[in-house]
Amino acid sequence: MFETELTRMLKIRYPLFQAPMAGGPTTPALVAAVSNAGGLGNLGAGYLAPEQLRDEIRKIRELTDQPFGVNLFVPEREEELEETAVQMTDYLNQYRIQLGIPQSPSILKSSESFEEQVQVLLEEKIPVFSFTFGVAPHDVIQAMKQRGTVVIGTATTVAEAEHLQVAGVDAIVAQGYEAGGHRGTFLNKVAQSLIGTMALVPQIVDYVSIPVIASGGIMDGRGLVASLALGAAAVQMGTAFLACSESGAHEVYKQKIVTANEDSTDITCAYSGKAARGIRTTFMNDMQQYSGAIPPYPIQNAMTRDIRQAAAKANNPEFMSLWAGQGLRLAKNRTAAEIVQQTMEQANSLVRKSFLN
Ligand SMILES: Cc1cc2nc3c(=O)[nH]c(=O)nc-3n(C[C@H](O)[C@H](O)[C@H](O)COP(=O)(O)O)c2cc1C
Repeated sequence: MFETELTRMLKIRYPLFQAPMAGGPTTPALVAAVSNAGGLGNLGAGYLAPEQLRDEIRKIRELTDQPFGVNLFVPEREEELEETAVQMTDYLNQYRIQLGIPQSPSILKSSESFEEQVQVLLEEKIPVFSFTFGVAPHDVIQAMKQRGTVVIGTATTVAEAEHLQVAGVDAIVAQGYEAGGHRGTFLNKVAQSLIGTMALVPQIVDYVSIPVIASGGIMDGRGLVASLALGAAAVQMGTAFLACSESGAHEVYKQKIVTANEDSTDITCAYSGKAARGIRTTFMNDMQQYSGAIPPYPIQNAMTRDIRQAAAKANNPEFMSLWAGQGLRLAKNRTAAEIVQQTMEQANSLVRKSFLN
């Protein structure tokens, strides 16, 4: 009943993607469980070094013979460490003192490199490649497609979707305002690109000729049916999977997910220098008092890494990034397969009811 252009293109049973979630939640076990259950599991690989990335892809392949996706971050312009970063280091030292970790650490350059990550994906001939934070270079998109990999970009406005279509992607994730995690915005200012999923999906559907995947605040069969009614060919659900058994999210993060409400999140640049939606924390609140400018991504992300890691070690959620969307009350601790099955059962019975009545 739920066959769409995308389920046919990807050879999957259900139009249900588990969102790629970089930073630990999307373990190979989660990705494979979703794919085995008939959806499309996606590995959030933005922060993985090339060899880790290869390992994780191989682990996924040991656990499933079904299609799966891998997601990368399109790199930003390299910014020099500047005055904003010096001021921020001083400011962040108050948290380092609270957490008992060394002050003013040297900021290590990230070990991941987009070109090397892409090389691994090409060598491993993955079924689906998705990206966010921009438009992947033309040669990367073409090389993926030549190997039979389906390529998916992320848009938060119609103009971004049109850019992605011209760049040659096969499908587009329409990421609404409700969505947890970093915003994929790359053309306009974030404040002007906060369009709700309900408004965004049908407008993108009308302006592009390739399949659209609705994302942001979709938590169950109701969201799936609504998205298909808006013209989407699939949904991508992140927060719904964060607290599930196979998710690699920290235990205190999972507890926060299942106890937080629809009004518990804000969009902040405090952790990474890039706008992202997460559960409100002391760190987020404090950073609103910061009078200087927050250094841009990826600098701020590197500068807060030691603080986030020390907080995770101390089971202190107040200094961790707790990315989550606005559908929080509907998040439950189940297995990934149960989430897929229950979502599809609910969607099925909704459609039957509306046709029979
Ligand atoms: C913890 C977390 C991490 C995320 N990491 C990524 C990522 O690495 N790449 C990406 O394209 N989207 C990422 N997202 C955004 C998701 O792809 C998706 O847009 C979002 O989860 C949808 O909203 P929902 O959480 O309300 O379902 C992340 C979202 C969350 C909650």
